Amino acid sequence: MHWSSLSALALVAPSHALIRFGCSQLVVDRLDPLVNPGLIPTPHLHQIIGGNSFNISMLPANHDPPKLSTCTTCQPSDDFSNYWTASLYFRSNNGTFKRVPQKANSGFEGQNGGMTVYYMQNQLADYTQKAKVKAFQPGFRMLIGNPAINTRAEAEKFPQLTYTCLQTMGTRFPETKAFPTKPCPAGIMVNLRFPTCWDGVNLDSPDHISHMSYPASGTFESQGPCPATHPVRMPQLMYEVIFETKDFNNKADWPTDGTQPFVWSFGDGTGYGSHGDYVFGWKDDSLQKIMDDACYVNCTSMKTQSIAAMNACSIANKVDEDIGDSTWISELPGAPKMTLHAADGSV
Ligand SMILES: *[C@@H]1O[C@H](CO)[C@@H](O)[C@H](O)[C@H]1NC(C)=O
Ligand SMILES: *[C@@H]1O[C@H](CO)[C@@H](O)[C@H](O)[C@H]1NC(C)=O
Ligand SMILES: *[C@@H]1O[C@H](CO)[C@@H](O)[C@H](O)[C@H]1NC(C)=O
Repeated sequence: MHWSSLSALALVAPSHALIRFGCSQLVVDRLDPLVNPGLIPTPHLHQIIGGNSFNISMLPANHDPPKLSTCTTCQPSDDFSNYWTASLYFRSNNGTFKRVPQKANSGFEGQNGGMTVYYMQNQLADYTQKAKVKAFQPGFRMLIGNPAINTRAEAEKFPQLTYTCLQTMGTRFPETKAFPTKPCPAGIMVNLRFPTCWDGVNLDSPDHISHMSYPASGTFESQGPCPATHPVRMPQLMYEVIFETKDFNNKADWPTDGTQPFVWSFGDGTGYGSHGDYVFGWKDDSLQKIMDDACYVNCTSMKTQSIAAMNACSIANKVDEDIGDSTWISELPGAPKMTLHAADGSV
């Protein structure tokens, strides 16, 4: 090999791991064991992936996902965590709704719906992954975003929750804070990136957010320092959820007032209320071991299962209702209040 190729390789050799993997759908149900433990049904519908011990209530004192799960929909066979977001709907001009299905990212063809999950120590495009992080601990959980907000100013408090209007499966820019305003030929990708600085003590907090923080200055991408109150650097957890909009891209079916027709399952047609939830459930210290490995995406330290095994793991719905998969429904599940325009007119 020519010396210049060797030095190019040396330049990109990773110090630590970045992992990216697919997870199939576990269930789509009106449950939220993080925000509303014990409540059935919850106010709005979620799409959930991960370990099959997902349940109405998952309080850490009596719910250890790796112990209670017998399978996971995620590619890493040691990951029994649960990851979830709201579901997306198309609102027709006659006011009825149909649920928008999800599809796999390219490279994960055959995966049943679900999403793509990342754990990174430096930003995605940094092949060196030089920073070192402490993996999440058993009992850890968090969320990011807020379904109750409906202005751009409020959404700016969560700088890394965005949408990508996919022209092709490879489109990654631009990202927007509000729902795309035009049909997206290859789908709408929802990007959710969680804060990366932990207070080092609390596995959860009353709002499920404040035990975590964004960097004190700069960003995760610029390697900004963690604040003194939240000194522990954690992996950046990121979700990519791709909603397959191909059945809903005909402009003739779109509102005639120039607005866009997609609404979150909690009634938000602005997109500003995007939110994601996480309940850690990796077996033993498997996540820390993988994060400490020197690999980029292809990590032999990460034990994997086949897409067929991922797809074979699922659980039955606990709430029995028509969620609009094959029929048009006249109300969203739970009949949430609709917010089709930003409260202050912002876009
Ligand atoms: C879910 O919770 C119920 C009630 O506590 C329990 O009976 C059931 O076994 C749990 N299911 C799983 C998969 O853990
Ligand atoms: C409402 O609109 C959808 C989508 O255009 C259509 O398929 C459905 O038949 C309509 N329902 C009624 C009651 O008009
Ligand atoms: C991972 O390995 C596969 C198969 O060898 C290869 O096609 C792919 O490009 C690799 N991906 C990365 C990010 O290195």
